[in-house]
Parts: sequence; C-alpha cells; structure tokens
Amino acid sequence: MNLVIPQGYARDLAAEPVTGLPADFRWGVATAAYQIEGAAAEDGRTPSIWDTYCRVPGMVVRGENGDVACDHYHRMPEDVQLIADLGVDTYRFSLAWPRIQPGGRGPANDKGLDFYKRLIDELESKGITPWITLYHWDLPQELEDAGGWPARDTAYRFAEYAALAYDALGDRVKHWTTLNEPWCSAMLGYAYGNQAPGRTNFGEAIHAVHHLLLGHGLASRYIRETAAARGNELELGITLNLGTATPETDSHEDAEACRRADGLGRRLYLDPVVKGAYPEDVIADLALQNVELPVQDGDLEIISTPLDVLGVNFYRGTLFSGVTEEGSPVGADGLPVTRGIERDLPRTAMDWEITPTALTDLLLRLQKDYGIPTVITENGAAFDDTVSEDGEIHDADRTTYLADHIAAVAAARAEGADVRGYFAWSLMDNFEWSYGYDKRFGIVRVDYDTQERTLKDSAKWYRDTIRLTRGA
Ligand code: FCB
Repeated sequence: MNLVIPQGYARDLAAEPVTGLPADFRWGVATAAYQIEGAAAEDGRTPSIWDTYCRVPGMVVRGENGDVACDHYHRMPEDVQLIADLGVDTYRFSLAWPRIQPGGRGPANDKGLDFYKRLIDELESKGITPWITLYHWDLPQELEDAGGWPARDTAYRFAEYAALAYDALGDRVKHWTTLNEPWCSAMLGYAYGNQAPGRTNFGEAIHAVHHLLLGHGLASRYIRETAAARGNELELGITLNLGTATPETDSHEDAEACRRADGLGRRLYLDPVVKGAYPEDVIADLALQNVELPVQDGDLEIISTPLDVLGVNFYRGTLFSGVTEEGSPVGADGLPVTRGIERDLPRTAMDWEITPTALTDLLLRLQKDYGIPTVITENGAAFDDTVSEDGEIHDADRTTYLADHIAAVAAARAEGADVRGYFAWSLMDNFEWSYGYDKRFGIVRVDYDTQERTLKDSAKWYRDTIRLTRGA
C-alpha cells in the first residue's frame, strides 16, 4: 500500500476569499465524543461498544483506545478558546449516549448532562453556535448485549435517549443531528467487522440499517413536536457519508455496478428519509442475497419525518467496474460484481484518493434528486504531519485539500446547489477509530504526551479564509 503523498500535490496557498460563498455562509469545525473526550469512566459514564471493541486484540492499531484521547473532558474551556481563535461560527460535536444515559436505559445522568451544559455555556460566551449530533457511534454496551442495532428495540432506546437529551438541552440548542453516518454503524459495525461492535453478518447489518433509520425517525418526530410545543427554534437533520460512483467504462456492467454502489451506499438512506420509500432496485438486490429490510407498518412514515437540513460527510468519490479482473460479471460469491477501481490520483494518509470535483457532482446530484438544503458536516484529510524545527506544522497538503474542497462547494453553489455551510474534520487530531492515534485529521495538532495543542498551517489558512470570505 502506498501511503506516501505524491510529490507536487500540495500547492503553496495564500489565503484568499473563496469566490461564490456568501458572507453568511456557515463555517465550522467538527469532532465526536469518543474521539476526543477521554474520561471514559468518569461521572457515571458506562462503556460503549467502542470501549469494548478497542480491547479486542488486533482491532485497533497498537491496541489503542479512547480512555484519555484528547482529554477534552478536562480541557474543554481551553478547546473552546481554540475554536473561537479560528473564527468559526459553529462547533459540531456529539453527545456521548453512555454519559447521558449510562447503560442505555433509565433516567438521565445529571453529571453527564452537566458537561454538555458547561460546553454550551462556554460556546455561547464566545458567540459560537453549538451543533449537536446525538449519535456518533458510541452505543451503550448493554444495548449491544441485548441485540444491538439489528434488534428493533434499539431504535426505541435511541428515541428515549434523544428525548432525554432534547428535554435537557433543546431550549438552548437549535441545531440537532440525529445520527452520524448510519452506513458506517451498520456496514462497518455489523457486516465488515472493522468497526465496533465488529460483527460480520450482512443480514444483521441490513436489519441495523432499518433500525438506525427508525431510531432517527422516532427521535426526529419527538424533537420536532417538542420544539413546536415549546416554541424552540429548530434545525433538524441527519448526517450521511456520501460519495459518488463513476463507471470505469460505458459498459452496461459498469453502469450496473454504479447503480448497486449508489443504491447500497446512498439511496438506501436518502430515499426513505427524504421520500418515505426504500428504493425498489436495492430491495431486489438484497433479495438476491436472501436479505430483507425488517419494515413494519407505519415505519416509513416515521422515518420520513420532515428534515430541515441534510448533513453531508464527504471524503472521496470512487470509480467502479462491474466485472472481475478476468472480465466476469459474476464474482466468486455468485453475485454481480461491484468492484472499486484504484486510480492514479494523489492520496491522503488513509490511502483515500483525493477527488474534489466529485464533491461538486455529489452536491448537484443531491439538489436535483432530493432538493433539501445541505451542510458539509465533515470534510478533511489525514496526512503524516511533521513538526518542523520552528515548532510549526507546515501541512500544505491538508491546506490544499481543504482549499480544493471548499472551492468545489462554491462551484456547486454557483450551479444551483443549496449548500449552506462547511465544517472541517477535524478541529484537532483525535482517536481515529480502528486507526487509533496513527492518523491525524486535525487542523490543530495534539501532542498526546503533553496534550499540547498547536495550530497547524491549515488552521491558520482556514481562519484567514473565513475572515476574508466574510469580508471582515
Ligand atoms: C468519518 C467519521 C469521523 C471521522 C472521519 C475521518 O467517517 O464520521 O468520525 O472518523 O470519518
């Protein structure tokens, strides 16, 4: 595997206003609870599936875990100051379910809620808008033991937790995202096993998809009704990881491979949430594998509770072939082939191809097919940063990545896509799931020995770009 950035990717960028983004465009940085908080056993927090998964030998690089992470739980005011220094207007963070409702059942844990109340106080005092994600992958372990997301009851447990959180924080926070990337929770967690809880059963994963979406719908309904009853301002959404599927050739097989990839990766989530129906062709593809979505009467109506915004996490687009390397349209498993093809493109340290124009294509497609306002809730890149002798981190590759993707957003807007904001992933280096602390996505560096934070060049570029774009 080639983890080295080809020479010449990074450009030397002076901050300049990005043309086409309005002065009121929403700028943010994003994080997630388990990736930064640490304090894993403090103030009543119980283990999540990630605490457990990290302890299974071989699952996380160097056997690392989120016990301490960025120690954000103890350094929160300092981190909010950092966010303020960047000049962003919004901070997207997630609530830890096992902090707010330890064990996944029963009443709210006041100490857990207090942490987030203090965080909101701190953000408000600096004029930064909080944007809450309810679920960024940390299912209480007890609920996994009771069946996890493949079990329908987990959807109801999630709705109950969402209600506890909204009751406590809804009067103060307008922006609510239910789930982060349900595709990852379901597929990586239950089909491929490379994320918590590490199961490998495709049928269970498809059940997980439906129950995640049902949980999203139940939570959305509660939040909407409660906000209306209380007269709270609300911007409600879900965040999906979305890419693009481009055919390698104009063959029928390659077109079909793209249809399948798009179906399982995107339409399986977007269609029920926005249009209230699962896509027929995906249902047929699943039937080929004897897998069925466990839909009950009334579920789709709940799942399609109206949303205000779609959160888009974008990292890359993919080229697909519908035949094996030997040219067969049927794979060893007897199923039609859907094969990602590597291209000769610059890559990040995750070995992900860098494809900014795919972001423009994606946003235009979302506008055309779904017509819902979007915000980029995550975009960013891991690179193998080095600290220079001057103590600085000259991460021109990350800056170039950000600049090219922000320009891609502006291009989509110019062609009519209603994109309202952009949040960099991530505020700071953090626990990158199965990759442990090995992959650094932050625009701020974290020295894990001292917990010292240092603005990388990309953070300074981001700060200056935001300021210039606002015309300040
Ligand atoms: C996304 C996750 C986020 C982070 C980035 C790199 O899939 O939502 O937590 O790990 O990838």
